[in-house]
Amino acid sequence: MDPRGGRHFGKSASDLAWSHFWLSALELKRTLDRKTPFDFPAKVKAGRVLLVGEGNLSFSLALARKVGVSATNMISTTFETVAEYSEATVGNAIALRRLGVTVVPGVDARNLTNWFGRGKFGSIVFQFPNVGSRNPLHGRNPNHILVRRFLESASEHLVDDGVVAITAVNSPHYDGAFDVDGAAERNQYDIPVAHPFYFSDYPGYTHVKTKDDGSGALDAGDEFVTFAFQKKRQAVRKWGHR
Ligand SMILES: C[S@@+](CC[C@H](N)C(=O)[O-])C[C@H]1O[C@@H](n2cnc3c(N)ncnc32)[C@H](O)[C@@H]1O
Repeated sequence: MDPRGGRHFGKSASDLAWSHFWLSALELKRTLDRKTPFDFPAKVKAGRVLLVGEGNLSFSLALARKVGVSATNMISTTFETVAEYSEATVGNAIALRRLGVTVVPGVDARNLTNWFGRGKFGSIVFQFPNVGSRNPLHGRNPNHILVRRFLESASEHLVDDGVVAITAVNSPHYDGAFDVDGAAERNQYDIPVAHPFYFSDYPGYTHVKTKDDGSGALDAGDEFVTFAFQKKRQAVRKWGHR
């Protein structure tokens, strides 16, 4: 008898263990809150958009090509310095600047104030954050810590009603590792809204992995999710000081 009340005739213990594993894996996969992708082009048309951890800058370039003159609203940044850029990244940076995008190398998403002072953005975007290490930090997955610190830093740089967008693989493994809900809660954001993300919407976007150890690599058949985070509304003060 299984815990759900069904009988399993002719199945071995290991068959049952595997079927329970897959059932729980399916259950843990993030249920999307929206059927439509997060509208990155609309955000660029509406105001300043900061992109961090842009790797080879190919997402920025695909997005800039979609938004026409509004590309001047984009500030695209990489963690890597120019000395670490591949030939393709240099080419993408040149193409972005021609379209009016500001490109800034060497930016740490955990400390945006260092680069942007008191600057505010309508949206702050991190596509596939990944530190390229699996070693725990403060007892937690290092990617969770990256997301947590990024959200903390980004909260200082959002306009009212601004949004942080993080795209990741939609799998129980990533959901557990990143714990985006926990990272949101800790930084006074609402639980993020999950949208589907399709690479085909961004022709030319060639995702890069963080290091050659394979961390951050994507597999055929992966599904992707964009989490949209907004700050919790502050409780309205009902009476002021006398
Ligand atoms: C899996 S790659 C994704 C790159 C790119 N966003 C894309 O979608 O192709 C993860 C990126 O996170 C960047 N990264 C890691 N730690 C970072 C940090 N503290 N601040 C900014 N970017 C960081 C890495 O440099 C790497 O480019």
